[in-house]
Amino acid sequence: MGTGLELNDVQGNILNGYGFGHAVHLLLHGETPAAVQQCLGELGGRVTTAARWPEGECPRATLNVAISYHGFERMGLRRPLLDRFPEAFRVRTRERAPDLGDVGPSGPEYWDEHLGSGAVHLVLSASARERDDLAEARRQLREEIGAIPGLGVVAEQETHALPHRREHFGYADGFSQPDVEGVDRPSSHRAPEDSGVGVPLPDGGWRPVRLGEFLLGHLDEDGRVDSEPDPDLVGNGTYVVYRKLEQDVRLFRDVLAEAARRTGLPEELVAAKVMGRWRDGTPLATQPARSDPGQLDDVATDQPGNDFRYLPDDREGHRCPLGAHVRRVNPRDALDFGGAVRSSGRLTARHRIIRRGMPYEDPPGPDGDARRGLLFVCYNADIARQFETIQAHWCNDGDTFGLGDDRDWFIGGAGGSGKMTIPTRDGRPRFVEVHPDLVVTRGTEYLFAPGMRALRGLAEGAFG
Ligand code: HEM
Repeated sequence: MGTGLELNDVQGNILNGYGFGHAVHLLLHGETPAAVQQCLGELGGRVTTAARWPEGECPRATLNVAISYHGFERMGLRRPLLDRFPEAFRVRTRERAPDLGDVGPSGPEYWDEHLGSGAVHLVLSASARERDDLAEARRQLREEIGAIPGLGVVAEQETHALPHRREHFGYADGFSQPDVEGVDRPSSHRAPEDSGVGVPLPDGGWRPVRLGEFLLGHLDEDGRVDSEPDPDLVGNGTYVVYRKLEQDVRLFRDVLAEAARRTGLPEELVAAKVMGRWRDGTPLATQPARSDPGQLDDVATDQPGNDFRYLPDDREGHRCPLGAHVRRVNPRDALDFGGAVRSSGRLTARHRIIRRGMPYEDPPGPDGDARRGLLFVCYNADIARQFETIQAHWCNDGDTFGLGDDRDWFIGGAGGSGKMTIPTRDGRPRFVEVHPDLVVTRGTEYLFAPGMRALRGLAEGAFG
């Protein structure tokens, strides 16, 4: 471990994922400061930390807790502290929706009622390897919450991993995560120095991303330590983006078939071009053509390959389109402004996120259709600079990549050019229609996951 990183003070699942396939999030509302404090007091001590589990002692279920700005407000945090939280965290996400492209079919009028409204104060998240263990953890949590006067559950969200680490559109997901300074990865996910998940260096190597990009109170990529509004409150904590994204799987199949017909490209190649990876995870950057793209139910390889960059060989996007999802959300070395910036990886390093989302499937709506999607969860030290920049500037706009109004094919939202461009070597780019209904937002919460000491302080009213 790097110096200064106290794993016992950091919540689990942030720096290394639990790797569990089942989770439930209990969204809580506290009527009084005492209700919220009592909850942290009684459950805070059970929160799972980032400390490595001794060999053979994997817990049956884990617990995490995160607090919204309104939760901090409800528990009576001092006003000067509240006011010094970043604006992105303070504003209700329903009001911030237009800035994130959550308009039209993704607009707050279609969101789950409780999300982004200020009603959610705490989120308790339990995870487990086995479904039965999750059910038991959930039952116990409900009982404990029920015994706290003035505390209620406003919603529960279950998520379950799909076979072979796929998300609902059939792509293997969740394996390209930043290599973070000072953090050992479990040996099965060991990231060798040249693994491609850190910051690309001009000499061809890679280095880990600074810890301060993900945990407050540590040195970040700008050489600063962010501890606002108070180091004791935010140190070893991180901001959590909780974003419910509904996916229309039937529409996805239809538009893929239609795009293949119109462009004359094989369907699986179109699927790979819009994502930047084949559906089993293999990057287009390393394998741009394939005679056998694999079956959807093939096991995704444990390490589908992260060791690639986009420059100098693929400046035009002939392998991986400039507008492909993975190239937009982590451009690696590609933002060099036509060669003007030598250490372009440093720019991208300021906009990395750690993703820990999982697929969900809610009970069918009135039309009888299943409502399924991705419960996108990510951790970052600065929501505006990291998550929101990726979403609003890199996905809902094409300027950064010289793509005009083209948007991310999956999550670019309504508006824009309505097309995605697939450059080809024959000089005849293909255009694929974008359907904003493919992925729609069903709500967003911004939360803060404090370190363990801060959790104790909050339970004792230390910041009031
Ligand atoms: C339903 C919506 C989404 C789907 C289906 C989806 C799917 C995927 C898939 C299949 C990958 C490649 C596998 C991997 O690298 O782990 C990926 C990577 C990634 N996605 Fe998404 N994603 C979605 C939403 C988002 C959102 C909202 C963001 C952030 C604004 C995002 C950011 C990322 C990042 C940062 C990567 C890693 C890229 C890399 O390091 O090369 N994704 N996504």
